[in-house]
Amino acid sequence: MLQTIHHPLLADELTRLRDVSCPSAEFRQRVRRVASLMVPAVTADLETQVVPCNTPLEITSGAKLKRGIILVPVLRAGLAFLDGFLDLIPHAAVAHIGLARNEKTLLPESYYMKHPPSLGDSDVIVLDPMLATGGSAVEAVRRLREAGARSLRFACLVAAPEGVATLEAACPELPVFAAAVDRCLNECGYILPGLGDAGDRMFGTGL
Ligand code: PRP
Ligand code: URA
Repeated sequence: MLQTIHHPLLADELTRLRDVSCPSAEFRQRVRRVASLMVPAVTADLETQVVPCNTPLEITSGAKLKRGIILVPVLRAGLAFLDGFLDLIPHAAVAHIGLARNEKTLLPESYYMKHPPSLGDSDVIVLDPMLATGGSAVEAVRRLREAGARSLRFACLVAAPEGVATLEAACPELPVFAAAVDRCLNECGYILPGLGDAGDRMFGTGL
């Protein structure tokens, strides 16, 4: 269920933010713009319903989203990604999931979750720039399903083939969107060529 989103503006932004010399402030801005550029593709099949619409001149019919949207950034790196989605979907509610990958085991450790009560009635979009081993994405989807989410999709900036395979195996029906699918993971679980540690680059916490 993977869809790689291709657009010249997206490719240009992604290349600039991959660059090791891109500073944190610029990195956040570019992640935000890439996220906005992904929104139309990620939301293209959301269901709408016909509603009446009073223009100043006459009554016509229009369209309205059938369900609410809940955006779920995976902390921390999902936050700049969230901003780009909120720029185009400002009425969305936001749920937060805190997951940190254990550097030795590469397994996700969960430390936070807060979501609106409407999880089961909403279209839920999980946001995390990086899909590496896939462990964090699988855990985020598992926790959201456990909390009642039924309509889920996952959007990332850069995916590794290993992570895509793991996520597809664990969640075969889940629509997954990526701006790029890179070559592979290195021995430390980082995506190659990738962009490094997204959270560290976003918040200036790297070496
Ligand atoms: C990064 C990234 C993902 C995870 C992906 O977060 O934002 O959540 O790694 O790796 P995986 O697919 O192998 O699970 P990290 O755990 O480094 O936390 P951070 O955002 O707080 O830096
Ligand atoms: N998390 C990141 O931030 N980058 C990677 O390459 C892999 C996991």
